[in-house]
Amino acid sequence: MWQVKIPYCNLEEKEKIILSSFLNNSKGIEEQERELTVFFDSLNDLEGFQSNLNSKSIFIEKISEKIDWLSRWKRFHKVIKIDPFIIIPSFKKDIKVEKRKKRIIINPSFAFGTGSHPTTRMCIKFLVEVTKRGDKVLDLGCGSGILAIAAEKLGANYVLAVDIDDIALKEAKKNISKNNCKKITLSHTMGDDNNFDLIVCNILLNTILELKSDLKKSLKVNGKLILSGILEEQEEEVRKAFLKDFKLLKTRRLRDKNYRWVSFLYERT
Ligand SMILES: C[S@@+](CC[C@H](N)C(=O)[O-])C[C@H]1O[C@@H](n2cnc3c(N)ncnc32)[C@H](O)[C@@H]1O
Repeated sequence: MWQVKIPYCNLEEKEKIILSSFLNNSKGIEEQERELTVFFDSLNDLEGFQSNLNSKSIFIEKISEKIDWLSRWKRFHKVIKIDPFIIIPSFKKDIKVEKRKKRIIINPSFAFGTGSHPTTRMCIKFLVEVTKRGDKVLDLGCGSGILAIAAEKLGANYVLAVDIDDIALKEAKKNISKNNCKKITLSHTMGDDNNFDLIVCNILLNTILELKSDLKKSLKVNGKLILSGILEEQEEEVRKAFLKDFKLLKTRRLRDKNYRWVSFLYERT
């Protein structure tokens, strides 16, 4: 059996990969954050799949194991500790958590945001540092809702969680309810809501750049902005774009197997 790992940047790319995998008899598909793993029995199918896509960064590996899909799925969704949070996949929700820790339960699904991806982890660390009791928070690109949930558990009084993807909003709704959160509003757009104390935005470079003026408009002067989803080679572009209306307070870096990620904490000037 062949295993192909393909990173993707947006929904359109993801759908193209999924479509091509079906058209070429793939035996299964797994989603990690920003990456799909597609399985093929035959090299011919794999070649057909590859020729449908223009992806430059594709990682192919021959694997001999007989795949147990359920246990593979579970393997990618482990308990994650980011102090004071313990992020638990819903199938492990009976795990005991110390009193001083905060539990977040996330349903593993197609929505982004299990807490395992470096971009999400860095956002959570920044949220822990800067969220204040009573804050009004915007989670732009909420995916599973993990950051909105973290913000409420850190004391935010109102959290607007926005995503353009229907599946993400549906999953976020389930997670919000599993975590008994009462202060999160879900929406497809940020509309005219503004005066946020804190905005967290873990999307990708181009979207972050497109959203810059909306971010400026919606954030209070002296409000904090957490940006994530940026690759190290894109760092300068973001720094330049945000130079004018934002002061850079702190940078975080974290790498995974294939990429080096950067996150920024800004203050609106
Ligand atoms: C990388 S995921 C982040 C999920 C979660 N916030 C986390 O940190 O793990 C990015 C999310 O942004 C959403 N998204 C992409 N472009 C967007 C836009 N212009 N406005 C709102 N959401 C967007 C995607 O649908 C996706 O769910």
